[in-house]
Amino acid sequence: MRESVSLTIDGQEIRAPKGMAVLEAAKIAGIRIPHYCYHAGLEVVGSCRMCLVEIEKSPKLQPSCATPVAEGMVVRTTTPQAIENRRSVLEFLLANHPMDCPVCDQAGECELQNYYMAHGRFDARHDEDKTKRKKAVVLGPHIMLDQERCILCTRCVRFTRDIARTAELGVISRGHRSVIDVFPGRELNNAYSGNVADLCPVGALTDRDFRFQCRVWFLGSAPSICPGCSRGCNIEIHYNRRFNPRYHDRRVHRLKPRWNPEVNGFWICDEGRYAYRAIDAPDRLKVPALRREGGLRRASWPEALGEAAGALQGVLEAFGPGGAAVMVSPQMSDEELFLARRLFGERLGIERIAGRAPAPASAFDDGLLVRADKNPNTRGMNIVFPGVGDCRDLIEACAGGSVRYLHIFGHDLARWNDPGRLAEALRQVECVVFEGAWDSPTARLADVVLPAAVYAEKDGTFVNFQGRVQRFEPAVPPPGEALTDLDILARLASALEAGPFESTASGLFGELARRVPEFSSLTWQALGPMGRWLADAGNDHAV
Ligand code: SF4
Ligand code: FES
Repeated sequence: MRESVSLTIDGQEIRAPKGMAVLEAAKIAGIRIPHYCYHAGLEVVGSCRMCLVEIEKSPKLQPSCATPVAEGMVVRTTTPQAIENRRSVLEFLLANHPMDCPVCDQAGECELQNYYMAHGRFDARHDEDKTKRKKAVVLGPHIMLDQERCILCTRCVRFTRDIARTAELGVISRGHRSVIDVFPGRELNNAYSGNVADLCPVGALTDRDFRFQCRVWFLGSAPSICPGCSRGCNIEIHYNRRFNPRYHDRRVHRLKPRWNPEVNGFWICDEGRYAYRAIDAPDRLKVPALRREGGLRRASWPEALGEAAGALQGVLEAFGPGGAAVMVSPQMSDEELFLARRLFGERLGIERIAGRAPAPASAFDDGLLVRADKNPNTRGMNIVFPGVGDCRDLIEACAGGSVRYLHIFGHDLARWNDPGRLAEALRQVECVVFEGAWDSPTARLADVVLPAAVYAEKDGTFVNFQGRVQRFEPAVPPPGEALTDLDILARLASALEAGPFESTASGLFGELARRVPEFSSLTWQALGPMGRWLADAGNDHAV
């Protein structure tokens, strides 16, 4: 166990691990010491001087970010000298900082604005003109730089140098001419570039995608899990609390990384960060549809589910369970997979269940966060459906005419099938049901289309490649008439008179924990915001 020391911060006696910085130890006592250059995920440089505090027996103020705690230490963070230092640092930083808070995207989450309001020297003491520097410079596909707003904390430089290891950014020139910029001939275009906008404590580095779209105080936040690959990075979904479709507004405005030391640390990749656009994409399926006179026509939920249930019932009666097949997906939550198993496998006896599909040829592991497996729940699918079949074999079976009813969850089979051959194979199936969120060539080949919610619109769990079981929560409702997969399956079960089934995510997780040994040590509540390891997760936890 790590050795701890006892110290006093602002009169509160606390214990903190030996070696911890005073700034971090203060958080244990609920005290936030203002800071700029310090970030828990980056090397400590102690350059901004904002975090200076009084430490008994030290003749001068000390940087709390770079001073480790010691036994018997007495720290004071709000003495007149410490406050005066902060006021001086802020005055110095604002000497050349533009007063453009009303048009700055960082307003509302800007540490210069926030600290100044708390410590400000509101009557300016100088009349000199501010230095002019570059404004609104495009640094790369995602990031815009406003040099005048930069306070030279160098968080962004350390991120590109030490985390992304691409080192596109540097402090250029010396003294009062120092600025942040990309090195000549470079652009800020690495797979993690969006993180510098999160790191920048002021509005110097902003997200091109978010600029002028929404004020941060209109955003709500829901904890979630990125579904972009099997890492399962922890994220926050920031949604517009004042969404108004009349203004062609977006419901979800951005994704931010959520700290989880076991999975993604402080970061997410750009691919995951900007994938939020798919949530409100124009090709979302919003209403159920049925094939009529050669085309897909809008239908009500009872009509669509009645048709799917009638077709499945007919096939089961005429051919037995062997006539039907299901394509589950590693994009589904554990609870959705478990309900599909209970309905199709256990209740209806269907054995032909596939879910494995080829990864895109361009997919690769980058050694940091990005994984080649572009599904969030391959491990969960393999636990809920041990030995689950390969979708390619199932398509071959369709082409051979032995499948009469096929229920597809989300897969766009045209991604890895010749479209003509796929159409020919599915034509051999009497009833193809597509249950998914986005329109696709596969959805257009179906006889029944059931529009489903995406991860941002429902709750559930994924198991990442390391064996971490992680919960996600809904941020926004599904669009149009779309329903969650749990709701769709429960309604299908009732149309088949095969129910009732537990259909809440928390209730199904409880059943999973009772019936599937890998989940046996877990409860819905205990998962909390950071998740828990599967019982058999072994030693492959390292990020
Ligand atoms: Fe710090 Fe932002 Fe300036 Fe980079 S751009 S040095 S993160 S203030
Ligand atoms: Fe400590 Fe910058 S946060 S010196």
